Amino acid sequence: MKAAGKLMKVFITRRIPQEGMKILTASGVCEVSLWDSDEPVPRSELLKGVQGAHGLLCLLSDKIDAGVLDAAGPNLKVISTMSVGFDHLALDEIKKRAIRVGYTPDVLTDATAELTVALLLATARRLPEGVEEVKNGGWSSWKPLWLCGYGLSGSTVGIIGLGRIGMAIAQRLMPFGVKRLLYSGRTAKAHAAEVNGEFVPLDTLVSESDFIIVSCSLTPETQSLCDKAFFSKMKKTAIFVNSSRGAVVNQEDLYTALSSGQIAAAGLDVTTPEPLPTNHPLLTLKNCVVLPHIGSATYSTRGIMSSLAAKNLLGGLQDSEMASELNF
Ligand code: NDP
Ligand code: DGY
Repeated sequence: MKAAGKLMKVFITRRIPQEGMKILTASGVCEVSLWDSDEPVPRSELLKGVQGAHGLLCLLSDKIDAGVLDAAGPNLKVISTMSVGFDHLALDEIKKRAIRVGYTPDVLTDATAELTVALLLATARRLPEGVEEVKNGGWSSWKPLWLCGYGLSGSTVGIIGLGRIGMAIAQRLMPFGVKRLLYSGRTAKAHAAEVNGEFVPLDTLVSESDFIIVSCSLTPETQSLCDKAFFSKMKKTAIFVNSSRGAVVNQEDLYTALSSGQIAAAGLDVTTPEPLPTNHPLLTLKNCVVLPHIGSATYSTRGIMSSLAAKNLLGGLQDSEMASELNF
């Protein structure tokens, strides 16, 4: 489809896997300009690149607010984000301008759940510490009291947000011999029955769980949900894992809880800010394992996310159905 006889203009804010680029190039409906880098587009270049665009393909690190929408101007009809999270999009401003939004649910659920389980095990069983000891000569012998951690068998696991990813995490954890699976959220979920999930108030989940996993979306309600009061209710032996968004956690309160022994350990795939500065206090703690937001990072998942984002974009440009449209 052409706008006034010309190809429609699309701006992509980063190099993305070829799968998506090929779909856009082969479509014959748009001309693509790209921030041709693995690093984020500077704000000034984003404002320039988006000018006159009919479609914008962005990532979770791009803040799409009124300034960007104004810079784009009235042509903009679709924003396609290569992510399932959409907290970086100013949805109220987008709605005012009747712009459609595509996102990438489901296709990254397995990869993210798998990574969250890996992070939980690495944190609870102290894998990074163990690897470090092997390398630095700290491994002198098999020692009965050395590098002990916590196991899942017989434990209570609490999942905050039993959505697509939360459920996939629960399904992967149950075979480890988990005794009780608690979850919290706005509403009880019918699918929880599959994992014998008990819908409980947040306070119950926090105080009774041996492992707490955060897999909810970031909203005004979940912003800083995990704060001083939250950590003070956790068991001293409990492990905290976050693979949702950094802003769900008050990191100063988490640091205090970890350094004072209020909780046993934390595993974070997401932080505020990203990247976390290398001199951040959390990085000084042995009982805090931090990963660089790699939940969906398998080759195949990123390829599928890229092609889904491209298809969503084309759907929006052509006023047709999108494979995954966000309803807001
Ligand atoms: P879903 O929408 O399926 O799940 C989100 C869940 O959050 C819902 O179950 C919802 O429960 C819950 N939720 C909303 N508000 C609250 C609340 N106040 N308290 C507790 N739970 C709440 O999304 P996905 O599972 O697909 O993705 C979840 C999030 O994971 C994404 O938004 C993204 O931020 C993050 N993510 C991170 C990745 C990584 O690389 N680390 C990869 C992919 C996603 P209810 O229905 O009851 O409101
Ligand atoms: C998302 O999609 O929201 C993740 O954070 C990255 O895959």
